[in-house]
Amino acid sequence: MGNLSNLVVETILNRSSVRSYRSDQIDEQALSVILKCGLRAPNGWNHQPWDIICVQDKTFLDELNFAITSDSNGSVFYHAPTVVFISGDRNDEYYATDCPLAAENMIIAAASLGIGSCIIAYLSNFLNGQLGQTYKKKLGIPENYEVCVAIAFGYSTISAYLQSSRNESKIRKY
Ligand SMILES: Cc1cc2nc3c(=O)[nH]c(=O)nc-3n(C[C@H](O)[C@H](O)[C@H](O)COP(=O)(O)O)c2cc1C
Repeated sequence: MGNLSNLVVETILNRSSVRSYRSDQIDEQALSVILKCGLRAPNGWNHQPWDIICVQDKTFLDELNFAITSDSNGSVFYHAPTVVFISGDRNDEYYATDCPLAAENMIIAAASLGIGSCIIAYLSNFLNGQLGQTYKKKLGIPENYEVCVAIAFGYSTISAYLQSSRNESKIRKY
């Protein structure tokens, strides 16, 4: 079978969500690669029913965070310098599958380039709710699109994470 370990496999097996970020912005070229990898995700009929917006405007992110938490010190996205919102067209049959696939491609690409990430449900939940509509509009996300995944990106302040465990018995063979 040859060598079954390579950079992709190692990156997937070693990734952990990052919850403490440096304040410096991520490398612009690395970001382009990450976003491109998102677009390369498999998707139903190649409809690409996603809207992807990368937000690096700190003022906007802080304002959004405050709208969610009413706290200017804590941050639902851990003060990450970049947040990517992946929204899906509710009228498309497979948007709920396609958007997370794009997200995972970005997360793995980022990890391989030394950039940490964390999916933040607080952000997507808020933007999909009544109170988040103003912010969704400000981001130019179409009304009929659901914010499926919000991902915080940045350089981790922690070099090695203790990985969360996985239950191998969730895999069955027949
Ligand atoms: C749908 C979804 C929502 C999540 N929302 C949050 C969140 O709001 N805040 C957070 O810190 N982590 C969030 N996470 C990250 C998970 O907690 C994390 O992936 C899980 O504990 C496994 O850890 P690992 O990513 O380090 O392997 C979310 C992950 C997913 C897939």
